Formats: sequence, structure tokens, C-alpha cells
Amino acid sequence: MEPNTTGPDVAGAVLPAGSSVEPRTTGLAMAHSKVISPTHAQASSRMSSASRLLATVVASMIPVLAMAQDKAKPDLAAGQQIASSVCVACHGTDGNSPASANPSIAGQHPEYLAKQLRDFKSIDGAEPARPSALMAGFAAALSDEDIRNVSAYYASQKLTPTAAREKDLAELGQKIYRGGIAAKGVPACAACHGPTGAGIPVQYPQLSGQHAEYTATQLTAFRQGDRTNNLQMSQIAAQMSDVEIRAVSDYIAGLR
Ligand code: HEC
Ligand code: HEC
Repeated sequence: MEPNTTGPDVAGAVLPAGSSVEPRTTGLAMAHSKVISPTHAQASSRMSSASRLLATVVASMIPVLAMAQDKAKPDLAAGQQIASSVCVACHGTDGNSPASANPSIAGQHPEYLAKQLRDFKSIDGAEPARPSALMAGFAAALSDEDIRNVSAYYASQKLTPTAAREKDLAELGQKIYRGGIAAKGVPACAACHGPTGAGIPVQYPQLSGQHAEYTATQLTAFRQGDRTNNLQMSQIAAQMSDVEIRAVSDYIAGLR
């Protein structure tokens, strides 16, 4: 019987996916360390065999990716057709939503939009990673190809940004966005979403110019565990008070 010395491994559960590489490459590192000087070999060979492994994996993926990308060339006209016939009522034909409860999606990174549309779908009857009574049905009706096309179409549109409104909270909002909340270990939003809120394509969504009401709803949903499609955001929002959420959401609305 293995003694359970650590109990429930909370810290382990929050490690980024890449950290699982370590135990698997240790075996490789040991094998390689025989041919390198034994003193510094351990650390450096672990690094190098890990990066060698990564390089091999990446190299073997390149032809596959190139093919997939070729096939996946989005059809903007088909995307616009879906937008103007189905999504228009809530997101506008150009992705600028007139109502502050609905997100503006114009100019958002297409990969992020596509991920959300997949996350709204229920797979095998399970609760979706991003439950939404409204979006579930619309997302369910979209094929993978529809998702690619409509995401590319909305991404190609120009965002009409909103404005910050709560002067009293502006300073707090800016502080959180730029510097996080040190006392609670909340990182700066800017670290991932960028100093102007433009995000980083594929990885981090654009936030700037979004309706404050929508942003606050999402942060609250992450905090309550209603939106569970990103661990980092769940952990960040879990530490935030209502006032902090309101302040940073308002700041983001006016961010350029
Ligand atoms: C009846 C209104 C309505 C319609 C129609 C609608 N949406 Fe939505 N959409 C919403 C609401 C509300 C949300 C926020 C959901 C939540 O609570 O998380 C949303 C969220 C989204 C998001 C996530 C945006 C983000 O920033 O994370 C995407 C992407 C999206 N919708 C795309 C679409 C597409 C594509 C269509 C058409 C096929 C569509 N929507 C039709 C109301 C609607
Ligand atoms: C470690 C990186 C990281 C940090 C720091 C971070 N975020 Fe995020 N954020 C993400 C990722 C990744 C997503 C996309 C989640 C997904 O795939 O659904 C996201 C999504 C969001 C969304 C949802 C956007 C939408 O359109 O629905 C909001 C709102 C948000 N973040 C606000 C914040 C705020 C406010 C802060 C600072 C308090 C912050 N984030 C800090 C990584 C980060």
C-alpha cells in the first residue's frame, strides 16, 4: 500500500498542463546523462532532452498542421450568412451587440470565438463547460465548419468600443488591471490580456471595449463555478469581491 502523505493534491490540480512533462522526461534525462559530464548533467540534460522531445513532437506535427490549415480556410461569406440570419438579433450583423448583457464579438480572435462556441455545446448529454441557456441551442445547430466560418467572419469585423462610466471606481479598476491584487495573489489582467486589452491571438481573448455588464457577469460566473472552461480565470475570479469585479469591468469597457 502506498502511504498517502500529501492528502488531496490541490496544488497539483492547478499546475499548467505542461508540468506533467517533467515525470515523463525524467527517464529520458537519466538515459542521456550517461554521455554528459555527471556533475551538471542532471539539470541540463533534463532540460535538453525535454526540449529535444518537444522539438521532435513539434516537427512531426508541422505537416499535419499545414494540411489542417489548408482545409480549414474559412469562408467569410458563409459566415456572414449565418451571422445575418441567426446571430444578428443579439450580436448585431457586425458583431457589435446593442444590449450590454450580450457580448460584442467584433474583432475578437477567431480561435477564442470558436472555442466558446464549442464550449457552449453539450457533449454526450453532459453539462457544457460554458453553460448558457441562450447560446446552447444556437451553438448546437452549428457544424465545425459553420463555427470556423462564423468565427472568422465576426473576427474580421470592427469593434465599436464602449466607455467607462463609474468615475469613483476608475482608479481601483486600473490598479487591478495593471497590477492585480497583491494581497490576494491575483495577477495583473494585463499580464495575459495585454496592456491595452487586445489579448494575444489563440491564447488570450481581447477584453477592451466590451460592455461592462457582460464582463462582470462572466467574472461572477467564473467565481461561482458556473463557467468552468478555464481554470486560470476561475482561480482569479474566485479571489475577487463584487466591487473589484465591478471596478475592473468598468475600466475594461473604456480601455483602448
Ligand atoms: C438570443 C440572443 C443570442 C443569439 C441569437 C446569439 N447569441 Fe451568442 N451570446 C448571447 C449571450 C447572452 C451570450 C453570453 C452567454 C453567457 O452568459 O455566457 C453570448 C455569447 C456568445 C459568444 C461568447 C463571446 C465571448 O466573448 O466569450 C459567442 C462566440 C457567441 N455568443 C456567438 C454567437 C453566434 C455565432 C450566434 C449565431 C449563430 C449567436 N451567438 C447567437 C446571446 C445570443
Ligand atoms: C494567466 C492568464 C490570465 C490572467 C492573468 C487573466 N486572464 Fe482573463 N482569461 C484568460 C484566458 C485564457 C481566457 C479565455 C478563457 C476561455 O478559453 O474561455 C480569459 C478570459 C477572460 C474573460 C472572458 C472574456 C469573454 O469574452 O467572455 C474575462 C472577462 C477575463 N478573462 C477577465 C480577466 C480579468 C479582469 C483579469 C484580471 C483580474 C484576468 N482576466 C486575468 C487568461 C487570463
